[in-house]
This record gives sequence, structure tokens and C-alpha cells, in this order.
Amino acid sequence: MKILIINGPNLNLLGTREPDTYGNKKFEDYFVDLQLKFGEVELSYFQSNIEGEIIDELHRAVGEFDGVVLNAAAYTHTSVGIGDAVKAIEVPVVEVHISNTHSREEFRHKSFIAPVAKGVILGFGLQSYDLAIQSFINSKK
Ligand code: DQA
Repeated sequence: MKILIINGPNLNLLGTREPDTYGNKKFEDYFVDLQLKFGEVELSYFQSNIEGEIIDELHRAVGEFDGVVLNAAAYTHTSVGIGDAVKAIEVPVVEVHISNTHSREEFRHKSFIAPVAKGVILGFGLQSYDLAIQSFINSKK
């Protein structure tokens, strides 16, 4: 099984960015943990701070990946384009967030991705990614 993780804007700063909210681990280090844990899964990782690059990456996932784990970060709450891209591709996408966006500011309660995602996992810290990968494995069983 091949799974692509896509991280959106500012998630390249994990480890130093607002550690009380996002923890103090770099995503690159956590990605190694995921590769060790899910040895049977071929994991890939893409990060961009640019909306169009995230859309292009979603398009490229078609025929390449069995599933996408998407943390579109701030674009979750603003991007009709990323929501449309998720809807346009036949690859299942699980939306994830590190923080519980529903316990935060009102503007973080809206997601353009949730209505077109396979499911949403949020509020479990970096473990949200682990749970999303697990959900793809479980649905193959
Ligand atoms: C986030 C939540 C978003 O509201 C925020 O803009 C982020 C990170 C999360 O993973 O908790 O950048 O997607």
C-alpha cells in the first residue's frame, strides 16, 4: 500500500512553531517514526507553503497512491481550490489536524476539505497522522 502525506503552510516549522499547540517534534523526525511503525506501507511526504503546489500534488497522487493524509493547515479554512481538488481525484483523502481545531478560534471550525474527505481525524497531536494511516490499513483488511 502506498500512502502520501501532504502538509500545508507553516508545518515545515513543526518543532519550534507554537510548541504548546503543536508539540516540539520536527515532522521529518516523526515521519521516520511512522516509516518504522508502518514497515508494510510505502510512505511518502510532501510539504508546501503554496496553495497551488498542494493542488498539483493532489493531482499527481492519482494512480500513484492508495490514499492521501492531508493536513492543509490554514488552507483548510480558506481554500475552495484544495477542497475542489480533493473532490476531483478518486484517491481517498483523510483530513488530519494536530490540534483540535473545534476547541480553537471560530475561523478554524470551518473546513473546505471535510465535506469531500473520506474522514477527519483531529486533536491527537502528531498521532492524528498515525491514526489516519491506520484507518487506510484497516479499510484494506
Ligand atoms: C492545523 C490547524 C490549523 O488551523 C492551523 O492553521 C495549522 C495547523 C493543525 O494541524 O492543528 O497550521 O492544521
